[in-house]
Amino acid sequence: MFKFDPEKIRKDFPYLNRKINGKPIVYFDNAAMTQKPNQVLGAIDDYYKEHCANVHRGVHKLSQEASGLYEDAHKKIGKFVNAKFEETVFTRNTTESLNLIYYAYALRNLKKGDRILATSMEHHSNYVPLLELKKSRGIEVDSIGINEDGTLKMEEYGEKISKKTKIVTVVHVSNVLGTINKVKEIGKLAHENDSLFIVDAAQSVPHMPVDFKNINADFLCFSGYKMLGPTGIGVLIGKKEILEDMNPFLYGGDMLQEVHKDSWKPNKIPWKFEAGTPNIAGGIGLGAAVDYLKRIGMDKIRKHEVELVQYTLEKLKSVRGVKVYDSLSIENKGGIVSFNLEKLKCHETAGLLDSMSNVMCRSGMLCAQPLVESLNKDGVVRVSFYIYNTKEEIDVLIESLKKINL
Ligand SMILES: Cc1ncc(COP(=O)(O)O)c(C=O)c1O
Repeated sequence: MFKFDPEKIRKDFPYLNRKINGKPIVYFDNAAMTQKPNQVLGAIDDYYKEHCANVHRGVHKLSQEASGLYEDAHKKIGKFVNAKFEETVFTRNTTESLNLIYYAYALRNLKKGDRILATSMEHHSNYVPLLELKKSRGIEVDSIGINEDGTLKMEEYGEKISKKTKIVTVVHVSNVLGTINKVKEIGKLAHENDSLFIVDAAQSVPHMPVDFKNINADFLCFSGYKMLGPTGIGVLIGKKEILEDMNPFLYGGDMLQEVHKDSWKPNKIPWKFEAGTPNIAGGIGLGAAVDYLKRIGMDKIRKHEVELVQYTLEKLKSVRGVKVYDSLSIENKGGIVSFNLEKLKCHETAGLLDSMSNVMCRSGMLCAQPLVESLNKDGVVRVSFYIYNTKEEIDVLIESLKKINL
């Protein structure tokens, strides 16, 4: 059994060899981008050096090898979230996965007066497409509110879901507060009303065990680069029968099976949704990332992040004038803490943390402006953790905040 040992894990990450102004990097911006281990970099390098060819196009050996690696990546990633190979579509990122559903499904199937129910903690990528549907199609968009502690006002679902609600969507883990939403319960309410249920899992799949079948979502969306993979590769998991029934999103290349003068036939799923030449190296890299995460174990990753968040919240109490923007219990909270120092604007705090101690965190509206503005009109500072972070690094954050306060 693999023992969770951050010191051993840290050896796999080249960024930790780098020093800036003689000091190590304390990387706490993992909700925006995770660092990459040698194993992922190696898998990408190997594809380009040894197996570089297009997929599903050539009978020659290199193309066969590349196709095999690319298909294996779909299998691994599907299995990682308990979905079938055919249900695992590669996209560019969560944003594209969500837009794919809204373009290929909602635009075609919803009509004026139909409703979509989201929440007030959605990332822009799962909210602005809805505003566009509202503008262009007259779809009504409503949102579930947020309690003081950072949880969703679950009682509003009963009031806001009706037979007109065709889609219910929710972010699994908020990228601002870290709230872990009750997706299974929300999905049940959605399905009881015959609504489609879409889960934005960008901040959950990288950090905890996520089971597509168990949640019973119709769609689950996430991004590779937030889970040790490269940029430019994302995932859309969709129920087989829905994907089979749905029209493609983009047309051309691998999504076609036959083309005649006046007609065409789509390829089988998942390829039906992967138009053009896909991001082959990205898919293979993400497969290697999933191998790495599985080797550690998602339960252990979650446990590690829980420890880091508890430690951070405890230590922040010793810093003067800190406002933390939630009071979630740890079972309901992912590896994210958003806060501000009373006397400074968020970008000033983040800038000082970076310049003083190479503590790298995010600040501003966090691509969730409606929520963040309701917390603080100038934005917040966010630290977000991953497998290679340590309590010693949190000590550097806390000491730096104390110095900023002097
Ligand atoms: C909760 C959530 N949803 C969606 C996204 C959008 O992801 P991407 O930029 O990979 O499309 C993010 C990115 O930070 C996110 O945190």
